[in-house]
Amino acid sequence: MASTPLVEATDLGKTFAGPVPVEALRDATLTIEGGEQVAIVGPSGSGKSTLLNLLGLLTDSSAGSYRLDGLDTTGLSERQRASLRAERIGFVFQEFHLMGPRSSLENTELGLLYRRFPKRERRRRAEEALVAVGLEDRIGTKVDRLSGGERQRVAIARAIVGKPRLLLADEPTGNLDEANSMAVLDLFAALREENTAQVIVTHDPLVADHCDRRITLRYGRIESGGPR
Ligand SMILES: Nc1ncnc2c1ncn2[C@@H]1O[C@H](COP(=O)(O)OP(=O)(O)O)[C@@H](O)[C@H]1O
Ligand SMILES: [Mg+2]
Repeated sequence: MASTPLVEATDLGKTFAGPVPVEALRDATLTIEGGEQVAIVGPSGSGKSTLLNLLGLLTDSSAGSYRLDGLDTTGLSERQRASLRAERIGFVFQEFHLMGPRSSLENTELGLLYRRFPKRERRRRAEEALVAVGLEDRIGTKVDRLSGGERQRVAIARAIVGKPRLLLADEPTGNLDEANSMAVLDLFAALREENTAQVIVTHDPLVADHCDRRITLRYGRIESGGPR
């Protein structure tokens, strides 16, 4: 018997309202299994970030349906979406979105902000995540003092500290050199062992080649690679 895919999107669409409405994504049908590593590629403006934000429940869809872990997300309240997001999804962005004057540890703990763990447990898990990304000797260091590669590893620690089922990354290596990009990919690869699926938006052929699968977007449509 086939198991339920982690991500099941059917004819998903997003139109941004405005004087001239923009149909950023349409008819996106795709499935992703637990632990799969999927690259999303396509020219600028093709809908990559829109798709990622829909999968991350950061944006409301305008059409179609999206099941996450077998759960239909259509019609959920903002609060229910936020709780689903906090429990099952981690995000990594190109610009890291970290608090510079705060330590690696404090930034990583933010990934558990909406979970009901006691302070001590949050700290323990954050330390564990920082060790997992190889920053055990930077735990108390302010993010301002870290290199670009180290900052991205803090951002990854923050994204994985809650042990998400789905990790979403928008150009996670966009600001990194090749050596640091490869280090990030190695970290992502290790997440497969935890059955964490990963969707990685990237311009970098090195990153895309490294993934199990590639979904190509063009003009807001999936050109190839959607359903398996
Ligand atoms: N918040 C928004 N409001 C209006 N239009 C948007 C918004 N976000 C994205 N778009 C438009 O949707 C299309 C797809 O954007 P995006 O998903 O960011 O593409 P990509 O990430 O592939 O560069 C573009 O035409 C973009 O201008
Ligand atoms: Mg984008």
